[in-house]
Amino acid sequence: MTGIIAAMQKELSELEKHIENASYRQLPGTSFISGTLYGHEIVAAVCGIGKVNAAVCAQRMIDLYRADRIINTGVAGALSGSLHVCDAVVASYAVQHDVDTTALGDEIGFVSTVNTVRFETDKETNEALLRSIRAVGLRGTIGGIASGDQFISAAQDKQRISSLFSCVACEMEGGAIAQVCRINQIPCAIIRTISDGADEDASMSYAAFSDLAAVNSAKALLHFFKNN
Ligand code: ADE
Repeated sequence: MTGIIAAMQKELSELEKHIENASYRQLPGTSFISGTLYGHEIVAAVCGIGKVNAAVCAQRMIDLYRADRIINTGVAGALSGSLHVCDAVVASYAVQHDVDTTALGDEIGFVSTVNTVRFETDKETNEALLRSIRAVGLRGTIGGIASGDQFISAAQDKQRISSLFSCVACEMEGGAIAQVCRINQIPCAIIRTISDGADEDASMSYAAFSDLAAVNSAKALLHFFKNN
């Protein structure tokens, strides 16, 4: 059973159209759709924006649907100068750039209890996702993705996050989902398509391109399910 999590409806709509034998379950804050996608057992949900929403959704998928892998899809801001709007990124690892206990002697981004900065993703899924990205005609990159409860829209913040964590893109959920997957010892993958440059023009670019970017990420993910 693969869980598919998007923060916003526009990031899931394209994929939802192809779910067969769908059944719906409404829980406080989130509605879950389970069924099959090209023969794969899946459960999909729009979790809402941010790390806590994403974590609650991931844990519910594991507890209630026995999800044994979770894939996060959606849009992201570019941290790398070589990424452009509608390019796709697969996370080789996720970090949480807003976790900071450096005052206590920890490394920036260190998440205690799980005791790591980097949450590695599933290599096999990543490679297959990259193949699908290319097959649907998008440019695909693999690299670190930085998550935090902030929409990044200033060159200074962008620069800080990319240099601290060597990440190529930023968003607001992937790191939390990866942490939940780590705690539950199941594989995780993150596929995101660039909607903006995480700089002073980010809100304008996001308004103009996030719909298209969201559909592209879902299309690549659909190709992945169809061909794996
Ligand atoms: N998702 C898409 N663009 C983003 C940005 N600039 N910051 C955080 N999350 C995003």
